[in-house]
Amino acid sequence: MAVCVAWRGRWGSLLRRAFPAPPRRACCSGVPARQRQQQQLALEVPSAQEITVPRRRGYLAEHAAPFSAFLTDNFGRQHNYLRISVTEKCNLRCQYCMPEEGVQLTPKSELLSTQEIITLARLFVKEGVNKIRLTGGEPLIRPDVVDIIAQLSKLEGLQSIAVTTNGINLARLLPRLKEAGLNAINISLDTLVPAKFEFIVRRKGFHKVMEGIYKALELGYDPVKVNCVVMRGLNEDELIDFVALTEQQPLDVRFIEYMPFDGNKWNFKKMVSYKEMLDTIKQRWPELEKLPCEEVSSTAKTYKVPHFQGKVSFITSMSEHFCGSCNRLRITADGNLKVCLFGNSEVSLRDHLRSNATEEELIQIIGVAVGRKKRQHAGMFNISQMKNRPMILIGG
Ligand SMILES: C[S@@+](CC[C@H](N)C(=O)[O-])C[C@H]1O[C@@H](n2cnc3c(N)ncnc32)[C@H](O)[C@@H]1O
Ligand code: SF4
Repeated sequence: MAVCVAWRGRWGSLLRRAFPAPPRRACCSGVPARQRQQQQLALEVPSAQEITVPRRRGYLAEHAAPFSAFLTDNFGRQHNYLRISVTEKCNLRCQYCMPEEGVQLTPKSELLSTQEIITLARLFVKEGVNKIRLTGGEPLIRPDVVDIIAQLSKLEGLQSIAVTTNGINLARLLPRLKEAGLNAINISLDTLVPAKFEFIVRRKGFHKVMEGIYKALELGYDPVKVNCVVMRGLNEDELIDFVALTEQQPLDVRFIEYMPFDGNKWNFKKMVSYKEMLDTIKQRWPELEKLPCEEVSSTAKTYKVPHFQGKVSFITSMSEHFCGSCNRLRITADGNLKVCLFGNSEVSLRDHLRSNATEEELIQIIGVAVGRKKRQHAGMFNISQMKNRPMILIGG
């Protein structure tokens, strides 16, 4: 593909203009307001400072609620993170996500209604899920997405509500999403070259995405995560430009290894591995340092150029899978529970909900599905041969 490389130098200054240091307002502590209030009100619970360390360990061991057996699999993995796809539709057509000819959409009556999404979310949160991410398709084209977030934010025990978005509608919606309780945002952006953007996503909209990123920074989201799927021959020449963005802004640029899904014409040669990306970046910044993992279940390997405000992460699903610490479950827009992104076994929670299964029955059904989760995915070559949904119908 002939992409204008001369954009680069000029693009650097455009970016600096696009990202003047935004006013840093306090935002998202990660704890919903309701929970903060409850924490303040729980007077009889001694504060962390009041309990000395050995006593505190004992206190936590005694008082911590045991994690749901239904959300714990045979390998001891506790699934406290749920991704819900709220739509199969999208206003972009990314090459790596959906086949060129599009996908057959599920009739609306077979998709989860808002009420069904909330009912399922409530059930999972009751069992121990404390983080929910809305995805799709493009979640921000669902007309009632603000309402869904507002309802989720009322669920006691839910600590984080996140969204993964292509950013097209973000600048317009973000103030309302934030008000409704949105804690964290991932914005997908695979290139800093507008012409290339149109080639990759088969639509216009580069400047809207940039506006969305800027709005997230302005509203104080920290970090603002930027998801960049790296593909050979397409955007691996932009790694340095992306890392440079983290110098002045609290961005976490996440380079994602290209994964195989139905219809995306994956092949090994197009995949750029984490090690290769790291080598390229280290040639420019040899001082790049690895940061400790924030959470055991984190899928990202995170680095930082010393003194840069932001970070750089790698999602190494292909070259170094992180199945051992996987804590995620997914619900597709048509209501199927998927226990592994790369597994094709699914169970329809929608059908059980609609046939009036009781809460107990639903929990049992979820427990059986989680119990069947495999230790790890079958390896990149096997999964590239395997039947699975296109990514757009799973929800990344
Ligand atoms: C399926 S999208 C849905 C949310 C939203 N539409 C977006 O693009 O951010 C979720 C994430 O999956 C990533 N993704 C899609 N297909 C992928 C693939 N084949 N390999 C790696 N990541 C992929 C996208 O880049 C995006 O960050
Ligand atoms: S990655 Fe997101 S924006 Fe791109 S086609 Fe898939 S769902 Fe749409």
